[in-house]
Amino acid sequence: MMDLNRALEMDRSDPLAGTRAAFALPEGVIYLDGNSLGALPCNAAARVAEVISRQWGHDLIQSWNRHDWISMPARVGDRIARLIGADAGEVVAADSTSVNLMKLLSAALKLRPGRRTILSDNGNFPNDLYIAQGVSALLGEGHVLRIVDPDKVGDEIDGDTAILMLTEVDYRSGRRHDMRALTSRAHAAGALVIWDLCHSAGAMDVDLNAAGADMAVGCGYKYLNGGPGAPAFMFVARRLQGDLKPALSGWMGHDRPFDFDLDYRPATGVVRNLAGTPPIIGLTALDAALDAFDGVDMRDVRRKSLALGDLFIELARERLARHGLEIVTPEAHPTRGSQVSLRHPEAYAIVQALIAEGVVGDFRMPDIARFGFAPLYTSFADIWHAIDRLEAIMAAGSFREARFRKRLAVT
Ligand SMILES: Cc1ncc(COP(=O)(O)O)c(C=O)c1O
Repeated sequence: MMDLNRALEMDRSDPLAGTRAAFALPEGVIYLDGNSLGALPCNAAARVAEVISRQWGHDLIQSWNRHDWISMPARVGDRIARLIGADAGEVVAADSTSVNLMKLLSAALKLRPGRRTILSDNGNFPNDLYIAQGVSALLGEGHVLRIVDPDKVGDEIDGDTAILMLTEVDYRSGRRHDMRALTSRAHAAGALVIWDLCHSAGAMDVDLNAAGADMAVGCGYKYLNGGPGAPAFMFVARRLQGDLKPALSGWMGHDRPFDFDLDYRPATGVVRNLAGTPPIIGLTALDAALDAFDGVDMRDVRRKSLALGDLFIELARERLARHGLEIVTPEAHPTRGSQVSLRHPEAYAIVQALIAEGVVGDFRMPDIARFGFAPLYTSFADIWHAIDRLEAIMAAGSFREARFRKRLAVT
């Protein structure tokens, strides 16, 4: 049986062990929910306080120029670009993932007139499907959202597919799509692809340009650690930037916003997809969080993420299978994101009981307990302790207590 010493040994030889110090993790808590809300970076509070008290409080409106607030969406976007295999000038930080998806999808559909299908899969985050339904209704051009099984997506791309809209890593199972293969199949059929990187960015070596990706969106509050409701990001490949005509044609995407022309004229580059005034305080927290990635090779991040997952799977098989917890995450490395999910009819209560023991994961309907691994701060010992406590809860049956069944608003 595998013991704690091996996990401690893995931590000792971990090239990313040092980045944990950049996060203010609460004492005694094992945090395996960075795929929902990333941990607090140590530098965030001071940076936000500085922007509030000195820049906003003292320099007031001049800060847009003096502290270059106005270019923050592009500057923060450039920092994210390095993490997702994009070039500088291809990413902006703005709005939420939902809004960015709405912006890209509505503009992208206009680039494929005559094609009616938006193709997605039933493992996609439902929010993205809702956005596609809303965009189709708004455009009123007869677009149809076609939702297929994740493993059928490639075969379902055809000459009517306008946009392939996929989330790279399934929020529930942790299954990962082959971005490169699906992008090239879509291109061969004349379709464009929008990738949702919410469960990828910051957790693995995404390489958008190597995959020939067209567009992508992703959030700032999961593995990028930008804080609750942090600004999201959007990527548009340089070759497409001039073609996309934003439907949300706001002044921050105008070529010369301070000319106050009566007519909209889109800016050059990805910044044309900005709409309104950027949220400087939120961008500051996200910018501070990105410091933790400075000097980090995303291939090391991916290697560690997979090793954490391998350890979790090995221990789950050894110690949890007999308690009826089934591993639903694919094991093969290319098909796995940075989480492992376990299925059990009492998954909700099990997660609550585990949280009471200081191990934070989360629950997804109908029966999934999810455990996310944030390679910058999750340790191998964390994994060992999490499984150890989970086994104890299962063996004692303590999750059956009534207090663990009470459904909270956010699961
Ligand atoms: C894959 C995916 N897409 C989109 C979203 C929604 O993002 P937002 O609420 O920032 O618009 C989430 C949120 O968890 C997500 O997991």
